[in-house]
Amino acid sequence: MRIGIPRERKTLEKRVALTPDGAAQLIKHGHTVFVEVGAGEAVDFSDDEYRTMGCTMASSLEEVWANSELLVKVKEPHESEYQYFRPDLTVFSFLHLAGLPEVAKVMLDSKVTGIAYELVQTEDGRLPLLEPMSEIAGKLSVLNGSYYLLSQNQGRGMLLGGALGVARAQVTIVGAGISGRAACEVAYGMGADVTILDIDIRKLEMVKSQFGNQVSAVFSTPPAIARAAAESSLLIGAVLVPGAAAPKVISREMIESMPKGSVFVDISMDQGGCAETSRATSLDDPVFELDGVTHYGVCNMPSQAARTATMALTSATLPYVLQLANLGCREALQASPRLKVALNTMAGKLTNLEVAKSLKLDFTEAEVALIQ
Ligand SMILES: NC(=O)c1ccc[n+]([C@@H]2O[C@H](COP(=O)([O-])OP(=O)(O)OC[C@H]3O[C@@H](n4cnc5c(N)ncnc54)[C@H](O)[C@@H]3O)[C@@H](O)[C@H]2O)c1
Repeated sequence: MRIGIPRERKTLEKRVALTPDGAAQLIKHGHTVFVEVGAGEAVDFSDDEYRTMGCTMASSLEEVWANSELLVKVKEPHESEYQYFRPDLTVFSFLHLAGLPEVAKVMLDSKVTGIAYELVQTEDGRLPLLEPMSEIAGKLSVLNGSYYLLSQNQGRGMLLGGALGVARAQVTIVGAGISGRAACEVAYGMGADVTILDIDIRKLEMVKSQFGNQVSAVFSTPPAIARAAAESSLLIGAVLVPGAAAPKVISREMIESMPKGSVFVDISMDQGGCAETSRATSLDDPVFELDGVTHYGVCNMPSQAARTATMALTSATLPYVLQLANLGCREALQASPRLKVALNTMAGKLTNLEVAKSLKLDFTEAEVALIQ
């Protein structure tokens, strides 16, 4: 199969979908891999490394898309890429369509097949392609949050761990899944006084077994979030309902109640944001101030640790890219329940129920779309 790896177009997105080692695995299985010139440059994977592995370097974005049957990328397609969508092409990438109605519309209108990384799901309910990025985003949420708490960044001028004779800063994390627990690990490691909330008691048990009584693991209700937020210098939103727009678990009143100069990091921004006050920002202009609270809403946070993220993402995606390439996309979708649940668009049909509900669009079962 002909597989394409473009250079990412999102603002300051430095990750690349496959490392040279990953591309080599595809070539070993007899596939042709087109890599756009400079695709891995920002993470120190040179064109020569890809060439040495047997990749064909493409000099333009158009050349990659036009030559591909399977287009593998990191972030959702950029508007400069919409023109290359076509019915016989499969795009495999993060899609987050519930929060991106315009991308959903062009994908449906063009009849391109779209499989979302973030919805590939194992039999035990894990999201193996989202997990490594969530871990990295969770860790970065505390690094970014603590940076914007500093005085020169219009923050409260606080260190998370306090100092001799000075109390630790309070950090509240809403959502104790992969990103929430990774944030917890870093905030706890930096000496903060951490409260983490979730509606799933099993997630709270995982926090307990990892941190014992060093962290407060609290069942999530609106009053419990409100109480914790009012005392926090750093609030982190890390909730997810797979496929759906993020639930608005943080109200404007909760944000207003936080001390002036506090920071709110919305990791769930890629699914539309989990606070009433959230809006998407970009890596070149990551924050805005509202009600005295610095808001951070970057949807591609892992790009700040782009090399780590590229390697983690390749390890996670490669088995699925191989399956799609070896079997053919339609056959792989039919054979693999893990991939089938991640099918979002095919032949103009929207095939994920949560995405369809969030966008108020018609839903078609993946099985039905696959046999049409
Ligand atoms: N901004 C970025 O760059 C970036 C990067 C990676 C992941 N993400 C996003 O981060 C979000 C979290 O991902 P994850 O992998 O940690 O998800 P996860 O499924 O591991 O965890 C989400 C948690 O939210 C909990 N939850 C759901 N509703 C809740 C509520 N009302 N109150 C409290 N908890 C609630 C769930 O029980 C679950 O434990 C997703 O939207 C994901 O796409 C963003």
